[in-house]
Amino acid sequence: MASERLDKRLASTGRWSRREVKELIRQGRVLVDGVPAARPEDKVGEESAVLVDGRAVDCSPFVYLMLYKPAGLLSATEDPRQKTVLDLLPRHLRRRGLFPVGRLDKDTTGLLLLTDDGALAHDLLSPKKHVDKVYWARVDGRVDEEDRAALAAGLVLGDGLRCLPARLDPLGDGSECRITLREGKYHQVKRMLAARGKPVLELKRLSMGSLRLDEALAPGQWRELTAFELAQLKRPAGSSKEFGRNEQKI
Ligand code: URA
Repeated sequence: MASERLDKRLASTGRWSRREVKELIRQGRVLVDGVPAARPEDKVGEESAVLVDGRAVDCSPFVYLMLYKPAGLLSATEDPRQKTVLDLLPRHLRRRGLFPVGRLDKDTTGLLLLTDDGALAHDLLSPKKHVDKVYWARVDGRVDEEDRAALAAGLVLGDGLRCLPARLDPLGDGSECRITLREGKYHQVKRMLAARGKPVLELKRLSMGSLRLDEALAPGQWRELTAFELAQLKRPAGSSKEFGRNEQKI
């Protein structure tokens, strides 16, 4: 982040409009490197410490949040009738233009990354980047070795959609399974398992590349990614190179 206007930087956090920033400065409530800011157009550098009312303001260019998506919310930024995952966030974050990286169905739960970093989102979603998405599913029936082999070979669905090879790990008696995809077509897990005659009853995303759902989060809760999680996610190797080697607890 190069140097830029103070009002622009503060407004980019979504907490205040430029007009509000101007007023805060007039009231002497903004400090830049320990000195009260004089004018909205003053330049602030990358390393400048900006405080409002004595509190440090996080002016990072992008925001990265891990959300445990609960059932019943849309993975969208807005909807005229239904609640979306953004309704779970405070107002200043809703104003930042965050969006979900990939969609989960309304009834699907689990890991959803919310960010305003379009380049990272593109990388994570591109099938060419081989980012594993791991789901846990409970099915009507029992998945077995034949299902595993069929998914590994690459299913062709009824509508002609040719799926990339996917990994299926039956769990316990087979009424639950872990499934790993490298693409994200509409209702893909549900359609694949339905095509095998084992319709999905419950679906939860566990991970995306190196990013795993934090077990300390409850449905509906979110937190910022740690610096380590973000660095891992941005590395090309943040997606496991070996397909489906993303073993994890459920
Ligand atoms: N596959 C599905 O069928 N639904 C989801 O929400 C995600 C993957």
